[in-house]
Amino acid sequence: MEEHDKFKSQIRSIYRLLTTLMVLFGITALAVVYLISDPTLSFFKEPTPVEEYAVVPSEDDFDKIENGIHVRTGFKDSEGLMAVVNNCTNCHSAQLVIQNRMNAERWKATILWMQETQNLWDLGKNEDIIVNYLVTNYPPQKKGRREILRDISWYDLKE
Ligand code: HEC
Repeated sequence: MEEHDKFKSQIRSIYRLLTTLMVLFGITALAVVYLISDPTLSFFKEPTPVEEYAVVPSEDDFDKIENGIHVRTGFKDSEGLMAVVNNCTNCHSAQLVIQNRMNAERWKATILWMQETQNLWDLGKNEDIIVNYLVTNYPPQKKGRREILRDISWYDLKE
């Protein structure tokens, strides 16, 4: 009987040891997972105050021109720039305007199309200013993707 009790208590202590190991392992695993998701332990630190209004550019930066480009929109700086910025960037990005190169007639037709179908307002006196700006700065591109090859000196392929 004594043998049996001894055996029982041995089993119990092994069991306790295993349980302790499992608990330690669990805690370590949790710590590792936490460290992976928050390596700087920022959860335990005072949050750094976020500066309010940090993203709103100052009045000067808002219409800044850099290297002849209106930074906020990407339009070229030229006569009529602000009329274009104020009327043509409300619904879509300036890029949509810039990447379309047309002559005056087609610019007018595009504006008319937007007025008839997209709720673009009457541009009044600004229309001429805007069309003038667009043809001056974004005229149709005469050249295609590359010039036609001319005066090519072909060479014979040797075997
Ligand atoms: C009231 C909203 C609005 C305003 C303001 C506006 N547009 Fe548009 N425009 C649109 C819509 C909507 C489309 C279609 C967009 C699309 O296809 O994703 C469009 C498309 C265009 C296109 C592409 C046309 C095509 O054939 O793909 C050009 C170029 C364009 N606009 C130029 C201008 C210019 C220049 C002005 C300033 C005079 C202007 N837009 C102002 C609504 C507007």
